[in-house]
Amino acid sequence: MILIVGGAGYIGSHVNKELNKRGYETVVFDNLSYGHEDFVKWGVFERGDLGNIEEIREVFSKYSIEAVMHFAAFTYVGESVEDPQKYYLNNLRNTLNLLQVMLEFEVKKFVFSSTCATYGNPIEIPITEDHPQNPINPYGKGKFMVEKVLEDYSRAYDLRYASLRYFNAAGADPEGEVGELHDPETHLIPLILDAAAGKRDDIKIFGTDYDTHDGTCVRDYIHVTDLADAHIRALEYLKNGGASEFFNLGNGNGFSVREVIDVSREVTGKPIKAVEDERRPGDPPVLVGSSKKAQEILGWKPEYANIRKIVETAWKWHQKIE
Ligand SMILES: NC(=O)c1ccc[n+]([C@@H]2O[C@H](COP(=O)([O-])OP(=O)(O)OC[C@H]3O[C@@H](n4cnc5c(N)ncnc54)[C@H](O)[C@@H]3O)[C@@H](O)[C@H]2O)c1
Repeated sequence: MILIVGGAGYIGSHVNKELNKRGYETVVFDNLSYGHEDFVKWGVFERGDLGNIEEIREVFSKYSIEAVMHFAAFTYVGESVEDPQKYYLNNLRNTLNLLQVMLEFEVKKFVFSSTCATYGNPIEIPITEDHPQNPINPYGKGKFMVEKVLEDYSRAYDLRYASLRYFNAAGADPEGEVGELHDPETHLIPLILDAAAGKRDDIKIFGTDYDTHDGTCVRDYIHVTDLADAHIRALEYLKNGGASEFFNLGNGNGFSVREVIDVSREVTGKPIKAVEDERRPGDPPVLVGSSKKAQEILGWKPEYANIRKIVETAWKWHQKIE
């Protein structure tokens, strides 16, 4: 069985669906701190907390676990600056708990949710895996530290991992069975769709004087179903004896905030009021990744690289949760 830690959350629930579709058996382990039990529509659910090592051991004793996919983390960059301990305890210490139990039970295949936040401010675009890593907040630093731990564990204990550095996960299951539901929500597309649905008055554009084609920040949006596909390819790569690796997962195309708003107006048919505001500290003008390595080694190719498709699937889901 494949253990999906954090599988009641946004990305983990999509990966769970895709794994089951392809014939894998799954166990989801999640404390529901940010996840949703009704997102666990496939496999079995074990409620538990990575902070409690006995609860992790129980799951490994009960099921025959072949590999682990680890999505569980706190994910708010701003909060990580205000309360770094919360982030290091959950994202770093609790990951060490998980790895400890994996080693106890001799489970040696690990797929990890890392992030483009491990790079910090880019000095070159598109960002490749060998771009220097200088994370600028505790969220990014915690993920970076886990990557360093994985390098050492891999050398010493024969653990093999794929560390997947996602850019901006976006969109929803095209069949609308699961989707994005964060509380609080900080991601651009769901916030724009909240404005389209009348749940908020407007969408703020932070900074309109960046050195980009229309002055607003450019980001790399990667569809969550494409992420799910990449996870399964990473798992199969490890199953086939592949060596530990880091992979960027982005779609290689950047879209500006204004472009995403414009596409959302077209998709929803709603006016969506945009309000221009000051730049936010710590926002790089452009974050776009190169996924060439994942394409070459994993044979992965994003199917939903088009921003319209991403917004369409997100809107379909968004209307369901209204
Ligand atoms: N969403 C993005 O754009 C993005 C980008 C880069 C990296 N990531 C990483 O991907 C992963 C998944 O992100 P997401 O957007 O799906 O987040 P999410 O909050 O929707 O999912 C995380 C899940 O982990 C669970 N969890 C947290 N701490 C736990 C603990 N101690 N024990 C058990 N379960 C716990 C939560 O309840 C939640 O269901 C995270 O590690 C995140 O850092 C996300």
